[in-house]
Amino acid sequence: MKANVVNFSLGVISFLLLVSCGEKKRELNFPETNLETTAFIPKPLQVTATKDGFALDQFTAISTAKNNSEFEAVASFLAEKIKGKTNLNIPVNSTIENKGGTIYFKHSTDENLNTKEAYRLAISKDSVILSANTSEGAFRGVQTFRQLIPEKANDTLASYPIWTLPTGTIVDRPIYEYRGAMLDVARHFFSVQDVKKYIDLLAYYKYNVLHLHLSDDQGWRIEIKSWPKLTEIGGSTEVGGGPGGFYTQDDYKEIVSYAAKHYMTIVPEIDMPGHTNAASVSYPILNGNGKTPKLYTGMRVGFSTLDTRKDTVYQFIDDVVREISAITPGPYFHIGGDESDVTKKEDYLYFVKRVEQIVQKHNKRLIGWDEVGQADLSATSISQFWRHADFVKQAIDKKMKVIMSPANKAYLDMKYDSLSKHGLKWAGFIPVDAGYQWHPEDYEDIPKESILGIEAPLWSETITNSNELEYLAFPRAIGYAELGWTPKENRNWEDYKIRLANQSAYLERMKVNYYNSPLIDWKKNDFGIEKLKDL
Ligand code: ACM
Repeated sequence: MKANVVNFSLGVISFLLLVSCGEKKRELNFPETNLETTAFIPKPLQVTATKDGFALDQFTAISTAKNNSEFEAVASFLAEKIKGKTNLNIPVNSTIENKGGTIYFKHSTDENLNTKEAYRLAISKDSVILSANTSEGAFRGVQTFRQLIPEKANDTLASYPIWTLPTGTIVDRPIYEYRGAMLDVARHFFSVQDVKKYIDLLAYYKYNVLHLHLSDDQGWRIEIKSWPKLTEIGGSTEVGGGPGGFYTQDDYKEIVSYAAKHYMTIVPEIDMPGHTNAASVSYPILNGNGKTPKLYTGMRVGFSTLDTRKDTVYQFIDDVVREISAITPGPYFHIGGDESDVTKKEDYLYFVKRVEQIVQKHNKRLIGWDEVGQADLSATSISQFWRHADFVKQAIDKKMKVIMSPANKAYLDMKYDSLSKHGLKWAGFIPVDAGYQWHPEDYEDIPKESILGIEAPLWSETITNSNELEYLAFPRAIGYAELGWTPKENRNWEDYKIRLANQSAYLERMKVNYYNSPLIDWKKNDFGIEKLKDL
């Protein structure tokens, strides 16, 4: 009885306040929220809930530090994404007085934020403060913010729609500096538009690298102005005999710049000395396997090689590395180096060492598939573990760093199971749980301090378009994002699979053709915030 009287009085007082002040956010009675149960992926380092609500609505504004165009660009990116999800127009650094809550972007040198991707989100009833030392950190924090916005607004709290964000604090940073995905655009070609959509999706899960496999036996996919037949002839085919295609240098620059806007680095790969049939058909002088090269549209590997003892070949490689490096702002150049089965071992070792010098001359850091660990490389070069732990160990002995992509755990082109519509199975099936339940930090005794990061490669022998790409990449790519970001002790399949189930709303809004794995109890149209589900 007494409680009812108190409630009634509070109700009258709130009503009077509303009438006297207009509908201000601080009078809104949010249902209890819980920041700690929000379905974030990757899971942030520390989350503390204060169980109140911040109203994202037509009165919200964004404010950034003055004279910081990078922070301002990240803030505008957030405003654009809020618009896409809610249709709200959120002003950035508007001079008009703000009547609602403010989202502040703050440059901070706080010691918790002293790594380049670290950020802090402090969400209270009246404001959100996103602090970071770099715009890159702010950008990662923006992805967390996006995951906080419920799919649906509440229409009963006020006379206008309100998207309620749970309050509390998040302090976050990744465990690895390299969190990549690879797309093979050589076996089948993917358009600039397809690549941009993949970047959108990867950036949402805090990936920071997209590695493009730009050449293989079946196709050469990047314009090289000094060797024009590479694309004219070598770009004209793909697996299965389709029309192939290639990126002009302007197309490639467009991809690089779109990636940069998403704080992602493009790693270009020209695979050599094997996987070079398309190059050798274009310029037979490069060929080292003793046969007349012909255009190839099959899936077999290991039959091609460059002639490793010809100066013209190294002139060719110098031109290719020079032209691509000039339009690649990132620090890496990937030389492939895998499955050179018809290159003699001594020729292979000589070749890889010589190509390292070319890559370094063009101010790039070499990455190669794990076979390159056999060559006499310098400590700045990087081995990408896909299959051979012994070669990776040889690289580690040379103090090289390692990118973890073991095929039986991290290859996105492996089928989920025997019923998968696309994919291969030579490294085994990788169902969604197996893709998540392994630890790059203690795999095959690779020391943690040697690991630069993790990458999920997607080879395209069996996929021809974005729909098929998405079927193999999603949802598994989401799990690899967490393996690269979240400390091992905070990763747990039972907890992850509930958070993954909540990604369906985002994936469906983005029209992603994700594989509906029966291991996941997919939520349809969830709010993304457990406690707000009943609204
Ligand atoms: C590879 O899968 N051949 C690196």
